Amino acid sequence: MNLSLSSEQEEIRQLVRDFAEREVRPRAEEIDQTSDFPRDLVDKAAGLGLLGILVPDSYGGAGLDHLSFALFIEEVARFSASTAVILDVHVSVGTEPIVLFGSEEQKRRWLPDLAQGRTLAAFALTEPEAGSDAAHLKTSARRRDGKYILNGSKIFITNAGEAGLYVVLASTDASAGAGGVSAFVVRGDNPGLTVGPRFKKMGLNGSAIAEVHLEDCAVPEADRLGAEGDGFRIAMRALDSGRIGISAQAVGLAQGALDDAVAYARERKQFGKPIAELQTIQNKISDMAVKVRAARWLTWQAASLCDAGAPFTMEASMAKLYATDSAMEVTLEALQVLGGYGYLEDYPMARRVRDAKACQIYEGTNQIQRVVIARELLAIS
Ligand code: CAA
Repeated sequence: MNLSLSSEQEEIRQLVRDFAEREVRPRAEEIDQTSDFPRDLVDKAAGLGLLGILVPDSYGGAGLDHLSFALFIEEVARFSASTAVILDVHVSVGTEPIVLFGSEEQKRRWLPDLAQGRTLAAFALTEPEAGSDAAHLKTSARRRDGKYILNGSKIFITNAGEAGLYVVLASTDASAGAGGVSAFVVRGDNPGLTVGPRFKKMGLNGSAIAEVHLEDCAVPEADRLGAEGDGFRIAMRALDSGRIGISAQAVGLAQGALDDAVAYARERKQFGKPIAELQTIQNKISDMAVKVRAARWLTWQAASLCDAGAPFTMEASMAKLYATDSAMEVTLEALQVLGGYGYLEDYPMARRVRDAKACQIYEGTNQIQRVVIARELLAIS
């Protein structure tokens, strides 16, 4: 398998690297400290066409591939994982289900605004009692007079309150388990949809995560994605490529930590020489670099399989599991290289450690990734 980048992918990487260094880097610390949603950065990314990176050009998007998407998210996450997850959720689980499963009319209606960043997207699957067991949703959707009436609560919804469209998963037939789940696109200004206060989190402070309540929320039949009962499959497919994005976010976090650890080790002098000359530091740097590269290659492999139209569910789970565990390890090791300075909030390392933890949890905990991998290898369900 060829894991080198095409000239178009190299160009995209350069574009997003410039954007990340010029726009994201100077804002990253402030976003973390104030917890303000970085709408300015979302708008600037939209101005570069990045919010529609996976949307075909016929609907106003850039029509690029998942490897380009991974490059985009990695570069942003090198400096701000908060900003990366906002963009990632919009592009993948928020918008891609419409690209993949929307009717022609739905695509024409929603995709141009999503691609241009005039509308931000969110994905509402998780519920207080349905997290890892995503098939057993309590949120119901009952048909009435050409509409569905949605009732229930969603939790931990990224972009909640900021999004103009929510892909909502709800049960149209509670007796049918996964086969009774349907997907709907619900407008953020639907009077039946309300958003709770933003959660105060350990990290990812710029991202808006909150509960979403659906109370007699009337959704036109025309806003159902796919057929009734297709929702779980739609959600799982969305999460497959969402996990590529989270892997890329983790790679970016780890690469940023490694870059800072290398720079610090070359500069910091102890025992009369830069600590980079100490074997104990060299070992740490080497181990970190191997993890970052392996994580990136797993991510690129999953993205390449997806782009080739090949099965990639297991590979996306492998990438997500390895890259996010590695990001946790690498950010902690990088913090150790910086010693006391790493522990100060004046340096970005403590923020990276806080941010990395979320990656092991969302878009399927790493325990769930192991379930997905084992099922495929052992051919069990
Ligand atoms: N693609 C397409 N279809 C799939 C699929 C996939 N990747 N995975 C499963 N399916 C299909 C199955 O083929 C099956 O279809 P049939 O009934 O026709 O055979 C159906 O879906 C049910 O599949 P399972 O029997 O495997 O379902 P399960 O109930 O055993 O659950 C699970 C499987 C892997 C545990 C799943 O529930 C899961 O992934 N859980 C984690 C949920 C998750 O990732 N949540 C994250 C929330 S979003 C988020 O975090 C975003 C954010 O804000 C950052």
